[in-house]
Amino acid sequence: MDSDQRSLPLSLTRVLIVPGRDPVGDWMASVVSAQQDMILAGIVRDLGQVEGAVEKLAPDVLLLDMASGVLEQIDLLRRLSAPRAGLAVIVVAMLGEVEIVQQAMLQGAHGFLLKPFTEPELVKSVRQAHDLLLQRRAELSSMARLYPGSAAAPARGEVIVVFGPKGGVGTTTIAVNLAVALHKETDKRVVLVDADLGFGDVDTALNMVSATSVAQVLSRLALMDDAVLEQSVVPHHSGIQVLPASPELGGSDGLQPEEFRQLLSRLAGLGEGYVVVDTWATVDDSTLAILDSCQHLVLVTTPQVMALRDTRRFLDAMRLLNYDLDRMLLVLNQCYHRVDVKMQDVERALGLPVAQIVEYAPGPVTSSLNRGVPLVTEYRSSLAAQNIVRLAGLLAQRSAQEGLGAGEQPATSSNGSKGRGLRARKKAG
Ligand SMILES: Nc1ncnc2c1ncn2[C@@H]1O[C@H](COP(=O)(O)OP(=O)(O)OP(=O)(O)O)[C@@H](O)[C@H]1O
Ligand SMILES: [Mg+2]
Repeated sequence: MDSDQRSLPLSLTRVLIVPGRDPVGDWMASVVSAQQDMILAGIVRDLGQVEGAVEKLAPDVLLLDMASGVLEQIDLLRRLSAPRAGLAVIVVAMLGEVEIVQQAMLQGAHGFLLKPFTEPELVKSVRQAHDLLLQRRAELSSMARLYPGSAAAPARGEVIVVFGPKGGVGTTTIAVNLAVALHKETDKRVVLVDADLGFGDVDTALNMVSATSVAQVLSRLALMDDAVLEQSVVPHHSGIQVLPASPELGGSDGLQPEEFRQLLSRLAGLGEGYVVVDTWATVDDSTLAILDSCQHLVLVTTPQVMALRDTRRFLDAMRLLNYDLDRMLLVLNQCYHRVDVKMQDVERALGLPVAQIVEYAPGPVTSSLNRGVPLVTEYRSSLAAQNIVRLAGLLAQRSAQEGLGAGEQPATSSNGSKGRGLRARKKAG
């Protein structure tokens, strides 16, 4: 019997069980079979047959006992948690097998159960995993409906978006300093846009007071010619230009995703150089519009399990939506904890190489933010500053290479945009 009062389910949860050597697998099967909202799709005892069974039986949730052959199981898990598989995996491990669980979560498991666990814990865990799966399927299908393969924004400059799927990982710190470093490295125009609609604080990080904001410019964009737009971005003494977020909370309410696309396109159209965009940690329509407009995505995360999990989920969604992962530069910030999670594990879990690490440097980073001065100029001897300068060099190199490769692939398209967009064209059919 169900242990809680759930209304009759709209869809039954199909559960596949891969048991270990103990009787827990059979017990889980009997618990699943007894639930009104679940169906036992099958029990697979041979690891080699799991993938075939997943294909044939189309389970929603897989209960995977990690008791035997951990290495093979982790490998299997990586393949099963690929986005196209569309199932949620719950790993079952012994109490104390923290490392195994951590590995499994990094490889995309949705949850875990530690033996011994009770019937209500098992049932709750399966339901939670299924709910999450349904939610993710709905999000992905609405994203795919909203953005069926739009082209990159017309631009002469290059748009670089800095995004951290988890909040607080250092996105603003990297965006601000990357913008300043790019200007110093290339001597080109750099416009830094604060697209953090919640609590944008680029202006504080650069100690600026500005009369204009993203919201204000957006409200008049259609009436502005390039000369007026140019006057609306605020010059900073580091040499970059800045378009800050609204100073008051809610000042950006009601802004439409399409308006962001237009703003970035117009700013990039002001001339050669870079538009660096700081974002907030939400994958909503505005963020997707911003991602659609960029040529490079600097993806910021930290070497901690929760941040990595969110990053992995973001990347899974991006893969499903046919975004070009080659255009992403993965940055591992606050690399103090790297003893906990190894670099190879991070790269394997995310399926993306780490382009740059940024050292954990609480002293210089905090002082630079508190004083409102760039880390890369005022604390340039710190390792973190040097790491960000190197990141700027990598990006500048990428754009230069695209210019050189113009023979094979046009660096400037007929509509004036430079290079391909982050969003690859969807394959026909
Ligand atoms: N490399 C680093 N070393 C030490 N501390 C850092 C580093 N990078 C960022 N921080 C600290 O992390 C905190 C968050 O940084 P920041 O505001 O840049 O993150 P964010 O991802 O933009 O956050 P939010 O989601 O609130 O916008 C700050 O207190 C900052 O001092
Ligand atoms: Mg921020």
